[in-house]
Amino acid sequence: MALPHADERELIASDISAYLERQKSKELLRFITCGSVDDGKSTLIGRLLFETRQIFDDQMAALEADSKKVGTQGGNIDFALLVDGLSAEREQGITIDVAYRFFATAKRKFIVADTPGHEQYTRNMFTGASTADLAVLLVDARKGVLEQTRRHSILTHLVGIRRLVLAVTKMDLVDFDRDAFEAIVADYRSFAEQIGILNWVAIPVSGLSGDNVAGRGDAMGWYDGPSLLEHLETVPIDSAADEAKPFRMPVQWVNRPDQHFRGFAGQIAGGHVKPGDEVRILPSGRIGRIDKVVTMDGDLDVAVAGQSVTLTLTQEIDCSRGDVIAAAKDPPHAADQFEATIIWMADEPMVPGRGYWLKLATQNATATVAQPKHQLNVNTMEELAAKTLDLNAIGVAEITTDRPLVFEPYADVAGGPPNRQLGGFILIDKLTNSTVAAGMLHFALRRAENVHWQALDVGRDMHARLKGQKPAVLWFTGLSGAGKSTIANLVEKKLAALGRHTFLLDGDNVRHGLNKDLGFTEADRIENIRRVGEVAKLMTDAGLIVLTAFISPFRAEREMVRGMMAEGEFVEIYVDTPLAEAERRDVKGLYAKARAGDLPNFTGIDSPYEPPEQPELWIDTTAMSAEEAADKIVEELLKLR
Ligand code: ADX
Repeated sequence: MALPHADERELIASDISAYLERQKSKELLRFITCGSVDDGKSTLIGRLLFETRQIFDDQMAALEADSKKVGTQGGNIDFALLVDGLSAEREQGITIDVAYRFFATAKRKFIVADTPGHEQYTRNMFTGASTADLAVLLVDARKGVLEQTRRHSILTHLVGIRRLVLAVTKMDLVDFDRDAFEAIVADYRSFAEQIGILNWVAIPVSGLSGDNVAGRGDAMGWYDGPSLLEHLETVPIDSAADEAKPFRMPVQWVNRPDQHFRGFAGQIAGGHVKPGDEVRILPSGRIGRIDKVVTMDGDLDVAVAGQSVTLTLTQEIDCSRGDVIAAAKDPPHAADQFEATIIWMADEPMVPGRGYWLKLATQNATATVAQPKHQLNVNTMEELAAKTLDLNAIGVAEITTDRPLVFEPYADVAGGPPNRQLGGFILIDKLTNSTVAAGMLHFALRRAENVHWQALDVGRDMHARLKGQKPAVLWFTGLSGAGKSTIANLVEKKLAALGRHTFLLDGDNVRHGLNKDLGFTEADRIENIRRVGEVAKLMTDAGLIVLTAFISPFRAEREMVRGMMAEGEFVEIYVDTPLAEAERRDVKGLYAKARAGDLPNFTGIDSPYEPPEQPELWIDTTAMSAEEAADKIVEELLKLR
């Protein structure tokens, strides 16, 4: 087809700001459309855009020509052609997961998030839904309520969208039959009651003929409700409820152009703010007073939820990106342990115990997720047992973060719109940097303000000085039988001979004591390394040079331990022995057992080993003896410190 998609988007992009400027005074309704493949969504959205005069003239000409070529039914313009240009792109590179479109009527302006209908796109739907006030669920009049319809309803319900429209599409293909419509409505009603979806309306439409999209048309005289557009124009918008909440603004950045101005910029998550208001900076808890509320259009008397502003305070107070400025009398809490609903979005399943980056509003932390309490069957809301979460799975689990986060429960206790900014978070894989999950906080399991960090008078510097050395962790990693323990042992002997204070933590030994409750599953190995990392950390605080000899097969956990140590303190040593060689040596006879099937989850056989990509030291055991390796390591270590 010959539509200029790129141009279309450019046009839209360049016009959006000017266009929104014109529409500024009008209320904004954000909605999402969801449906399954081929349910007439493109046609319906195209029709909405057309009816609201947002289709540009040149595109109209192209459309008419295309429609003639394709030969649509009854000579109607095929509106799907206008929208589907984006899907081709999606299939190629998935550059656009959610397409946002803007249109307006005399009464309101609209942003519609259009998401692909395929089942694997749950994450896109979630992305679009996370900012929407309303969802339009499409149901093909010939097919009725499908599993997809139920899934999308549950998803939109979960993310806190409180209003639904069941748009029964393609009514022209069932001869605008009232019974067909009523049967679908009855079917959906029993489902909605079961889930607890209260606020929904059903509208019979035809994107092709336009009936009940904007105007009524006359094909469905039996229907006396509003058209889809009329409904979108009049349905209540939640922003008023957001404005009534206590004031919160996560600080996005500190604007300090010169000594005279220091402003805190961000988007107001809830409530309103005006000059003179007393505020509390979290998590520090410091109190301040608002001096000015600044925007691009000048200073404001008051700003409300949803607005992006820069706040100045009457006196200098420490406040930086990630802090939250809140109503002094009614601040949110901080915590480092939560229960949350998690939507898993990555092909790789969730790994309980692994550290992921967590982003909550403008705050970042490292978070570990426990084994899920349960997974949701998204077609029935039934709770199922689960050890992990796979792509598109939704579950409930406990999350622990490495620092307290200022938060609010996602679901509003008073039944108002959800607290999206301070209750919704995403998880990011530390190695690939891709978003692997989105989630919603339920409540804190433990409030961080009750757990204080004990300040000690004899600190790590004093310990190190007394020992006359710089602490370090020599982290040996490699296959079982690679020679880690042998080399580490030699290194420790040499360091001790040089008068250094050392300690060697060895896999086989630690597994007899501290970690005797752990086996060799992925989760157990992660926990093994986490504990060893914490112990090594304490030992460096005590001023020691710590040597660790663990297979430590996963990059993510080695990086996690690296992140726990001071800069330059973590020295990763890859003891590189090829599997065939380790197996040939088979010092402990374990490879033979593993090959015979008597030792499951054996590293290199049926459990993976991820070699370091940039270790500080790389030891090729096929090219040097253990003695030579140890000399090299000691030499390098002394060079480093
Ligand atoms: S790690 O993967 O969690 O880092 P760790 O180094 O503590 O492993 O323990 C590895 C040692 O446990 C091996 O050297 C071997 O002696 C023993 N072992 C027993 N079962 C296994 C197994 N399934 N996989 C690897 N090592 C095993």
